[in-house]
Amino acid sequence: MRPTLEQLMQTVHCVKFPARWAEIYDNVMENFEQNGCPLTDPAYYDDLQERYHAFPQYLEVYKQAATAVAKSESLARVLALLVASLSDPDHAWGDAKAFSAPKTADGKPDLATDMLTGLAICCQIPYQHKLLTGWGLPEDVILRSVQVLEKGVSEYAKRHGGAPGYHLLEWFQRNIFGHLYRIHRLEIEIFANFSGRAKIFRNSKGEHVALAHDIVLHQSGRALGCKNCEDEARSWLADVRENDTVWVGYPYDDQGLVKPTTVTLSKKEWQLVLEYGDPIVSLHIPADGRLDATAVDETLAMTKEFLKTYFPHYAYKGFYCGSWLLDPQLATLLGPDSNIARFGKRFAPLTYKSDGNAVFGFVFLKPDPKEVDITTLPENTRLERALKAHYLAGQCIYEVKGYFF
Ligand SMILES: CC(C)(COP(=O)(O)OP(=O)(O)OC[C@H]1O[C@@H](n2cnc3c(N)ncnc32)[C@H](O)[C@@H]1OP(=O)(O)O)[C@@H](O)C(=O)NCCC(=O)NCCS
Repeated sequence: MRPTLEQLMQTVHCVKFPARWAEIYDNVMENFEQNGCPLTDPAYYDDLQERYHAFPQYLEVYKQAATAVAKSESLARVLALLVASLSDPDHAWGDAKAFSAPKTADGKPDLATDMLTGLAICCQIPYQHKLLTGWGLPEDVILRSVQVLEKGVSEYAKRHGGAPGYHLLEWFQRNIFGHLYRIHRLEIEIFANFSGRAKIFRNSKGEHVALAHDIVLHQSGRALGCKNCEDEARSWLADVRENDTVWVGYPYDDQGLVKPTTVTLSKKEWQLVLEYGDPIVSLHIPADGRLDATAVDETLAMTKEFLKTYFPHYAYKGFYCGSWLLDPQLATLLGPDSNIARFGKRFAPLTYKSDGNAVFGFVFLKPDPKEVDITTLPENTRLERALKAHYLAGQCIYEVKGYFF
């Protein structure tokens, strides 16, 4: 008998799913009851391997997971729903965002449950391949974009004691829709918008000033609501004001904090070069190997060439990164010559509301920051030791937004 959508989601312990599923549910279930879901057949993945070389490492994991899902009617129904969502380019990304992966009742590993989103995203590979081919991208770039989807398996395993599963269905939509590319040491994201709460101005000498815009600041100059900056006393809303001749606003300092006194910029001398919503190239740092400064320089040069060749109409205004790696405190904790500090130094930092938890996921690989006991964190590297001491002292590393031109 067909369960209701709510019953189905309860059965697989899925706490969040797209509201839109209420509309498509009956059709998708009718189709499932008549034809099953092709992604529960291991041969589906052999076919993807043959056509796109999609699985350099984990083909067997995908096939075993598909066989396991085939034995669970509930999971197979959810897979059919996910496939209906992801096969529709108009809704795929939004639905992926609105969906939280199913869990087992006792939280124990289960291949079928934990790999469900990994199986589902495979239905997007033919679309992705066609899109990137149609854009005229070289074969090696397309191959890398397809094969990177498998990384969700290793990223999950890293965070779950080696058990296979799939991490970040929504993140990988960037690859599916051709927004994210691996270039040498970094991943670059295009069709992204600047989200810093600032207007950035340049003068004829090439100097830049960032004025805070549309952000409420804590008295310390950090975004109000950041960890340890929650009290509203002497907080203020910073906005850039302008008339015919000047812009007036609160500038960011070199630590990414906003100063409490305003500056005035003459429109004769200064030009607005970047503001919220502008197109930018967002840089992401995959966790494979060190962040050598030369490799980053090479990557930036290659990125400019890549964009000039394949996306000549993408009129980006600058480079951007939002990361814990940009917190200027790291230069003090690790020394200014560390790769992390040198990477951060490329960017002009901007505070934003940050819970200060990113390092638990990215450095200590904890799936849930709320469950972290700081006293038990490892101290194998300089970073781990410095972070542990920093958090034990009640401090934290903030996620910071940064830009350069
Ligand atoms: C970004 C990254 C590649 C930098 O590594 P790196 O080049 O080794 O950085 P540094 O040279 O500045 O490291 C200084 C020290 O911290 C250690 N360290 C750096 N990153 C570490 C990490 N993620 N986990 C544990 N230790 C780390 C280094 O081993 C070194 O310590 P050591 O001298 O005792 O060996 C690394 O931190 C990483 O892989 N991070 C995960 C990915 C990530 O966070 N991406 C951004 C998401 S927003």
